[in-house]
Amino acid sequence: MAPSAEKTVKSVVTRYAGDATRLMDVLIDVQDELGFLSHETAGHIARTLGIPQVDVEQTVSFYHFFARAPRGTFAVYLNDSVVAEFYGRAEVAAAFEAAAGCRFGEVSADGVVGLFHTACIGMSDQEPAALINGQVFPKLTPAQARELVAGMRAGKTVAELKGETCGDGQNAHPLVRARVKNHVRRRGPTVFGDYRPGEALEKVVALSSAEVIAAVKSASVRGRGGAGFPTGMKWEFARRAPGDVKYVFCNADEGEPGTFKDRVILTERPQMVFEGMAIAAYAVGARQGILYVRNEYHYLRAYLEHVLADMRQQNWLGALIAGKAGFNFDVSIQFGAGAYVCGEESALIESAEGKRGEPRDRPPFPVEKGYLQKPTVVNNVETLCSVVKVMLHGPDWYNRLGTEQSKGTKVLCVSGDCDHSGIYEVEWGFSVNDVLKMAGARDVQAVQVGGPSGSCIGPDEFDRVLAYEDLATGGSFIVIGKHRDLLKDVVLNFARFFREESCGSCVPCRALTGMAQVVLERIIAGNGTAEDVERLQAWQKIMRHNRCGLGQTALNPIVTTIKNFRPLYEGRLSTGDPRFVPSFDLAAAVRDYDAATGKG
Ligand SMILES: Cc1cc2nc3c(=O)[nH]c(=O)nc-3n(C[C@H](O)[C@H](O)[C@H](O)COP(=O)(O)O)c2cc1C
Ligand code: SF4
Repeated sequence: MAPSAEKTVKSVVTRYAGDATRLMDVLIDVQDELGFLSHETAGHIARTLGIPQVDVEQTVSFYHFFARAPRGTFAVYLNDSVVAEFYGRAEVAAAFEAAAGCRFGEVSADGVVGLFHTACIGMSDQEPAALINGQVFPKLTPAQARELVAGMRAGKTVAELKGETCGDGQNAHPLVRARVKNHVRRRGPTVFGDYRPGEALEKVVALSSAEVIAAVKSASVRGRGGAGFPTGMKWEFARRAPGDVKYVFCNADEGEPGTFKDRVILTERPQMVFEGMAIAAYAVGARQGILYVRNEYHYLRAYLEHVLADMRQQNWLGALIAGKAGFNFDVSIQFGAGAYVCGEESALIESAEGKRGEPRDRPPFPVEKGYLQKPTVVNNVETLCSVVKVMLHGPDWYNRLGTEQSKGTKVLCVSGDCDHSGIYEVEWGFSVNDVLKMAGARDVQAVQVGGPSGSCIGPDEFDRVLAYEDLATGGSFIVIGKHRDLLKDVVLNFARFFREESCGSCVPCRALTGMAQVVLERIIAGNGTAEDVERLQAWQKIMRHNRCGLGQTALNPIVTTIKNFRPLYEGRLSTGDPRFVPSFDLAAAVRDYDAATGKG
């Protein structure tokens, strides 16, 4: 190893006090400085941290953004989400390849440009988008792709490539300066309504922790990360769990394709998120919190650190928060490195401990044994914002918003075939039609509600309402126009996504995500049979036995479209060609046997 690499590893490990649970941070920083993580570097990290090399290797190999070989001076990660494809991703990819002189998955011969595919990067409202050395380049055109490669070869820095133009709101903050847009189209009263940082905390410290939990329970706040688990109940479990050391995690992994609300909330309302974490900490008795953010949002790092520092200054974080004796709590930021499954709360905790993001067996649940085996609350970004408003205005105010069983508001991420993609904060109870109208969508064939793990519905269901009791959603709302090939452009893309993102621990998830993709491709190519369609549906039952929600929902795009768009499948099945029509003639198969035994 070159001495400079060795020195880099040593100084990075020292930055994290030689703590092996900070392995993710060590790897991210070392890769930042060296460009990639060779086996030699992994060995050096292992020795410096005092852990087996295999522990380092298995973490490195798990995450999409950790590279084992040089990725070029500029690593271009062009996302291949459904919406990116809708908006001309293929042409942009072709332009990058032609200009760079290499294919995706390769580095150009001069070592300047590396081209890589990646899953949805949380920019579905401004596609096609790419990450280049961690900076976001939204709304790319083939001409821009060519210009970018020329700039790279001309020796420009990534900041120079990005230029001076910034997006709206805090995207223009000196510590962000991103080309990203927020596109907040509708501000509801909870997340994007009036907000003065610290006000809710001042109210909270006048209450006991039991009273805070009672208020959250009485407001019926439910988790916005997708599962809708009652937040007050989760906090109660954590508060009652034995032990003095407890943790609060904020889940900003946001890997569900089509979702980008947490990115916008972290950009526009970071104080609210941290204030929500502090309220959770007060309620359960935690002193340390971790904001786990997907690597795709690394460009927000300096800004978020700045907000944290400011909140410490204001006495909203740190020791004696809001002057309350015994209320000590601080937050650190943990970045992921590209793995959808890390949004699953136990995988997220594993990842924060420096390991592969493989979901744990449950029980025990994180509220009993979570981060470092201590009771841990994991809440979504938006859930924590909701709690701030509950504490500020009271449960009755919150209960007046929404429906009978779904209180408050929901932040929707609308994208796809509509005029106004973006963020809409609506009360629960809005119908799909209401949202389509707001977003300027016409000639709609289908809507993918809740991302690929949700469901794909057709016009006959557009009067259904967004609510836990009807159409539950974590926020992703992808509009699919009539001109799209639903199976090829959408369902197949999602099938590939799940196959790629399965962590591989459970056999059904590992095997059937791949097999489902193959069968789907066969059907799309016109070589499928009616049995194939039945087979895909039957596999759904097996998938329910997988360990986590990824495997349990991985076939949803297929089975919900078979249910709601069956003619699209039937129209593509092979009918005439005997090669693709499985048949079994029992009488013919046993004819020899019958002849030999004198039966028949
Ligand atoms: C594959 C998978 C990915 C997930 N991704 C996220 C995510 O990005 N953000 C999130 O808050 N919850 C995600 N969840 C749900 C979390 O496991 C967990 O329920 C949630 O963070 C709890 O917070 P809440 O109660 O505030 O919703 C995911 C679950 C699965 C199975
Ligand atoms: S269901 Fe899939 S992603 Fe989840 S633990 Fe099993 S293999 Fe991993």
